[in-house]
Amino acid sequence: MFRSHTCGELRISDAGKQIILSGWVSKVRLMGSMAFVDIRDRYGITQLSFNEGYSKELLEKAAELGREYVIQAEGKVAERESKNAQLSTGDIEIIVTGLTVLNKSKTPPFTIENDTDGGDDIRMQYRYLDLRRDVVRANLELRHRMAQKVRNYLSEYNFMEVETPVLIKSTPEGARDFVVPSRMNPGQWYALPQSPQTFKQLLMVSGFDRYFQIVKCFRDEDLRADRQPEFTQVDCEMSFVEQEDILQQFEGLMKHLFATEKGLEFGDFPRMTYADAMRLYGSDKPDIRFGMPFVELKAPGNGVDLVSGKDFVVFDSVEAVIGICAKGAANYTRKQLDGLTEFVKRPQIGAKGLVWCRIEEDGTAKSSVDKFYDAEALQAWKHAFGAEPGDLILVLAGDIHKTRKQLNELRLLMGTELGLRSSDDFKPLWVLDFPLLEWDEESERFHAMHHPFTSPLPQDLHLMDTEPGAVRANAYDLVINGVEVGGGSIRIFDRALQAKMFDLLGFTPEQAQAQFGFLMNAFEYGAPPHGGIALGFDRLCSLFGGAETIRDFIAFPKNNSGRDVMIDAPSVLDSTQLKELGL
Ligand code: AMO
Repeated sequence: MFRSHTCGELRISDAGKQIILSGWVSKVRLMGSMAFVDIRDRYGITQLSFNEGYSKELLEKAAELGREYVIQAEGKVAERESKNAQLSTGDIEIIVTGLTVLNKSKTPPFTIENDTDGGDDIRMQYRYLDLRRDVVRANLELRHRMAQKVRNYLSEYNFMEVETPVLIKSTPEGARDFVVPSRMNPGQWYALPQSPQTFKQLLMVSGFDRYFQIVKCFRDEDLRADRQPEFTQVDCEMSFVEQEDILQQFEGLMKHLFATEKGLEFGDFPRMTYADAMRLYGSDKPDIRFGMPFVELKAPGNGVDLVSGKDFVVFDSVEAVIGICAKGAANYTRKQLDGLTEFVKRPQIGAKGLVWCRIEEDGTAKSSVDKFYDAEALQAWKHAFGAEPGDLILVLAGDIHKTRKQLNELRLLMGTELGLRSSDDFKPLWVLDFPLLEWDEESERFHAMHHPFTSPLPQDLHLMDTEPGAVRANAYDLVINGVEVGGGSIRIFDRALQAKMFDLLGFTPEQAQAQFGFLMNAFEYGAPPHGGIALGFDRLCSLFGGAETIRDFIAFPKNNSGRDVMIDAPSVLDSTQLKELGL
């Protein structure tokens, strides 16, 4: 027997018991004729004590232990003299009677502590050691619990988990595919799925009615903190449902996760149209943990213009002038305001400049454009923003779409700077009524905003021929704290409408048939009305774990260049392998 207990298990009530522990040496303290060794496993740390009066042999063995040695210790549980309230086992120690080294370890390249001295690169290279650290392990434990809860919850509602293939066919929509050469079919390639989208729809045609899968998806995209080339979705599809049914079902799942994992109760999740999200927050995934909505001082079609005709050429010449009001930020110094200006002028953001206006304690306004706007004009701004003494108004100008995007970045920065984006505060939001199509300047054609299987809103169907760009989709995103956690839609289930959609996306009927014939044919054999959603499981876990990057919640993630630095992938193939693949 290697162990009778784990290293996180023994308590004062076990005092006197004869036990065996196995684990890794976390710390060795030699104190003359005494020694203390901390032994660690997944469950915790227990102190092994080699007291005075011990056999010389045992003490010598303890003295030879190095960090991360794998050991087995036998002994008796005893109450500790100096207790450690930080440890779950801190009331006891083991009076060791036998010690075996099961395996030695080289000195690890970084300390296996929560506050490790190892940088990112070295920890990724030795990820198996990094995973021994409590904080990282706790993230994977959270992920495990979340997966269990999702499975149990959905199973209870009759969802059936079905596995779909990983070697599939490349499709031109969406992100870039990862591809795999076929040895048996020289010159032909599989693609790895960006999502099981078409397969789950086919399962609906098969009558499976409620499907889910916790599934790996692959996308060859540029990486960011919340993007990995392979990631996991909680992928779901339902038949005989409308949008409302899906929102209710998955709001229920989210409430269940929040309640059981975080002890948090929620009322109905708020809903916002895409148009409002863009107008008020300049983003289709607004962070609504804080207010600071956009106020348009001038914008096409809103009937307001509080800036033109004052000889300020910048504001006169642009399409839109939009701002935010940062509560209580009037005390920003000149240097801080210059910092904000630099922030918005960075190439990644691309604003030309920043106009500020602070509301003084006496209610008067002082701005960076006092030369053009008199007290009365600034009072009108103040009124538009609902600003109060002590507030700071920040204004950007330009093309409406670009200005909204830029102001979104500034709003998020202000939210962070003013401490309004706590990771313990969860603000879910449904964003609805996305446009069905978006125009791509480069390829000069429409792209599906969600994917080509998303159905238009019934009330917009009549615009499909005349004004396709104005058609809204029967699509929805789940956003939490500004993170797009999931997205889905009600699908097209009619062959003719699906063909029309492909036509709008610039496919010839032949191309559509070649790419998606299998789906359109299936629609001719009794396809039920259906719809679904996929939640980004890595993002969901990192949100629940209070972290920004999903890498911390993936056992073996890729770095920002898409490399696994531990196994050193991707890598070159040798010539025989290439030949065999016909490459
Ligand atoms: P979508 O493309 O919106 O929808 O993806 C669903 C969710 O998956 C997560 N996600 C990612 N997470 C980590 N790394 C990535 N590279 C990445 N890409 C996406 C996001 C996103 O909201 N088939 C449709 C769903 C449907 O219509 O049912 C789909 O894949 O959290």
